Amino acid sequence: MFLTKEEEKLLERGDGVSKCMEILVALGEIFDAERLIPIKHAHISGVSYQNIGDEGLEWLRSLNVKFTVKTTINPAGMDLDRWKEMGIDEDFARKQMKLLNIFKEMGAELTLTCTPYYIYRPSIGEHLAWAESSAVIYANSVLGARTNRESGISALASAVIGKTPYYGLHIKENRAPSILVKVECDCDPSILGYKIGSEIEGIPIFKFNRKLSDDDLKALGAGLASTGNVAIFHVIDQTPEWNDFEIPSEKIVVDKLELNFDCDPDIITLGCPHLSKEELIKVYNLLKNFSGKVRREFWIFTSRKVYEDLIEVVDYLEMKGVRVFRDTCMVVSPATRRFECVMTNSGKALTYLPKLRGVKVLYGTLEDCVRKAFE
Ligand code: F3S
Repeated sequence: MFLTKEEEKLLERGDGVSKCMEILVALGEIFDAERLIPIKHAHISGVSYQNIGDEGLEWLRSLNVKFTVKTTINPAGMDLDRWKEMGIDEDFARKQMKLLNIFKEMGAELTLTCTPYYIYRPSIGEHLAWAESSAVIYANSVLGARTNRESGISALASAVIGKTPYYGLHIKENRAPSILVKVECDCDPSILGYKIGSEIEGIPIFKFNRKLSDDDLKALGAGLASTGNVAIFHVIDQTPEWNDFEIPSEKIVVDKLELNFDCDPDIITLGCPHLSKEELIKVYNLLKNFSGKVRREFWIFTSRKVYEDLIEVVDYLEMKGVRVFRDTCMVVSPATRRFECVMTNSGKALTYLPKLRGVKVLYGTLEDCVRKAFE
């Protein structure tokens, strides 16, 4: 990979910056990148102490570096204010805060959300280095920005250097669809993504018989990226780049989806990815149809931004017995593991909750989840 004189100097400093350059150069060489390109924004995952542990914490501290571009971070293992209510112990909370302080000292904005695009919306063609597969696929597909599916470490290295290797989805022709998916059922996009992700290779372009909302596109992408190695999709007549390429000849038709999860939920969770304002308002409107408080644990996860923008909605939800948490989620927090069966509307949570938290899962639409909370 070609390096400028300045980039070569960064490699030779022998400090944390050099380590970050080494990571980017190694990545660039693996993927045959010709050079590094500047990025506007990095988003780092692996922020929960649950995922990173003591070794990761020490490694981060030892780097002793500062971010040089706008840098946001993914959810942590707990709500920073209400961790006790989540059943998080003091030792975990202390270590989580230590970890967040390291990120803060490096210059990260403590956004603690997997929906950084609700805070800063990248524009078409903008180069990013984002980790968090659901955010990556949203940025590429819905916003037309350009990022590879970075790991937490490569996104961090890019945040320090302000650059990323130029390969993969940064290059227009690599964003072309390779398989047409005709959707002939009125399927939940989250579950469609969850199913299709594991069944196809390459980049899908979908044809729906209805217009999808932004939230539908978010759910579709999160599901796809959770079961497959997909980092971009297109939707005919909807996403910004669908018309820039030929429609592929390979085609599959989806006319029904079947799931066979079964358990009696002791907790219902929404917000994987973190809920948008529209989704939070939808929950509020649905809850108004039921009298009294919810009869099961019902946890909702969203970003501080959405929470603060809709504080009256949040107050109503809390009054109905729903807990609205920020900064964390059902998958990255250890809190979920004390439950047996988690009901969710998220394809991504269906994928990761059993694997990472050892719980059973039950799927329901957002409406089903609200209804179940009162049974
Ligand atoms: Fe976000 Fe956690 Fe799901 S980070 S996408 S809510 S697994």
